[in-house]
Amino acid sequence: MKKILSILSVLLLCSCGTTQVSDVTEESVSAEEETITETEEQTDEQESSNILVVYFSRAGENWEVGNVEKGSTRIVAEYIAETVGADLFEIVPVEPYPESYEEMLEIASAEQNENARPEILNTIDNFDEYETILLGYPIWYADMPMIVYNFLESYDFTGKTIYPFDTHGGSGLSGTVNHIKETVPGAEVKEGLPITGKAVQNQFEDTKSVINEWLINNDLMDSVKSL
Ligand SMILES: Cc1cc2nc3c(=O)[nH]c(=O)nc-3n(C[C@H](O)[C@H](O)[C@H](O)COP(=O)(O)O)c2cc1C
Repeated sequence: MKKILSILSVLLLCSCGTTQVSDVTEESVSAEEETITETEEQTDEQESSNILVVYFSRAGENWEVGNVEKGSTRIVAEYIAETVGADLFEIVPVEPYPESYEEMLEIASAEQNENARPEILNTIDNFDEYETILLGYPIWYADMPMIVYNFLESYDFTGKTIYPFDTHGGSGLSGTVNHIKETVPGAEVKEGLPITGKAVQNQFEDTKSVINEWLINNDLMDSVKSL
């Protein structure tokens, strides 16, 4: 029996990519089996997610937060995707934005004045599979960055539900929910969630409860999960 278990264990360990071969007992075999089942379940869950978190965010110098390694909207987007078990997509510009806040202000202002559509480097091939899209962006000059308009215009949002969230320096959502509605009239656009970049960078643990509440109110997360 021990020999059979030993062979089985080696097979199991190989099949899940674990390199360590340990002493074999019936207990360890069943623990391995449980791990495999859990992994399969997780993969199924990930594969069947019809929720997508899309965000645009920028690292570097910013208003009231200094020079940040990770943009505030990205921090929120990653937290939401992990919490609701959604897929995550970052809108990456073809032309990277500068780290300097002053330079960024000039570029963003010019893009807005020109009603520009900065090019996006990456695409979502399976966009049709998503019904629910949580869209995150920073406020730039009281609006969404122009690259987010480009994103919205690049896909067919008919029949999709959009939950907007932003990070900002005091402007809140600043009319962006209506701008999304105007840009993608075929979508249902829900109430947005505004969070200050400062709260994200300095007190993210406290900020999580505000995000959780919004997710729960929108039936995107069970209240049990948040405990
Ligand atoms: C070019 C630019 C313009 C901005 N304009 C505004 C604004 O009009 N209102 C506001 O509240 N915050 C404004 N901010 C602050 C950002 O919205 C805020 O720092 C946000 O959290 C940045 O998100 P991110 O780190 O994900 O890029 C601006 C920041 C930049 C870089």
